[in-house]
Amino acid sequence: MNDVLKNIEDIKLEALIALRGASSAEELEKLRIEYLGTKGRVTDLMRSLGAISKEDRPKVGQAANKAKEEITLLHKEIQENFKNVKSEAPALDVTLPGRKPARGHQHLITKTMDEICQIFGKLGLSIVEGPEVETDYYNFEALNFPPNHPSRDMQETLFVGDKLLLRTHTSPVQIRTMEKTKPPVWIVVPGKTFRRDDDITHSPMFNQIEGLVVDKGITMADLKGVLTAFAAAFFSPDTKIRLRPSFFPFTEPSAEVDIACVLCGGQGCRLCKGSGWLELLGSGMVDPALYGFVGYDPNEVSGFAFGLGVDRAAMLKYGLTNIRHLYEGDLRFSRQFS
Ligand code: DAH
Repeated sequence: MNDVLKNIEDIKLEALIALRGASSAEELEKLRIEYLGTKGRVTDLMRSLGAISKEDRPKVGQAANKAKEEITLLHKEIQENFKNVKSEAPALDVTLPGRKPARGHQHLITKTMDEICQIFGKLGLSIVEGPEVETDYYNFEALNFPPNHPSRDMQETLFVGDKLLLRTHTSPVQIRTMEKTKPPVWIVVPGKTFRRDDDITHSPMFNQIEGLVVDKGITMADLKGVLTAFAAAFFSPDTKIRLRPSFFPFTEPSAEVDIACVLCGGQGCRLCKGSGWLELLGSGMVDPALYGFVGYDPNEVSGFAFGLGVDRAAMLKYGLTNIRHLYEGDLRFSRQFS
């Protein structure tokens, strides 16, 4: 009897090893026929049980059944695996070109901001940022706008609480920076600003870049030199600028800076309304009153400042006629500036 049992065990092991080694569905089928087919070795074995003596038959029969069962089960399992591989196969065509994910790009505003900051960066100014919700003190008072003074009317704003407002300009960061830093200060401040304005050249939310340079011996010539270099780098190398007297509470003297019209070059056209010039930014020499708020000595240092509308600069550079294009999120517009 032991010989028979050993034979059953041998056939079983042989079959299991062979099945596991099958490398294709065809090979597996051959093995099925070899072991489980009508003339297969396991089938033969089952048939031969009739010749076993009555006492041995239960034990041998049990062993044979168990062997058959194990072989059948493993065959099934491997067959399933081959099926799965087969059904996935067509999806995996490694010769197909890959799918490119859609790539975005910077919005024109971000691109213009970066470009402007980079130009001033090359001139030695570093980037500083400040809060968009600002106190009355930083937005107005420390910038020399006295309470109830009419100069505040130039910047009608959106209050969010008592003496708390959405900043109307990036100028408060001048004070915040000087408070924290000893001179020299060479900074640009990019950021969002807010006003109660809404027409084709004004949006309630817009973007500015503030500039502040406070150092020993800074004069208006430095202001003009820096802004001439900026206009040349941002618009075109021979762009002319002019300074026009103006008023801001935090600069004295103050100047509006114009560039020669980007369309007609100065002859006069519809864009510049015949004047030959386009208004670009506000600027001036830092009013010594500000130094009083931040503890600087006006006998030691002097400085200039400017505030530039990023939306306006982008509109001038790219000939946009309506500021709303910048905020509508229309991809037909945005994609032109990738
Ligand atoms: N803050 C001013 C505005 O938003 C712009 C400005 C003018 C900024 C003169 C300056 C400056 O730094 O010197 O209208």
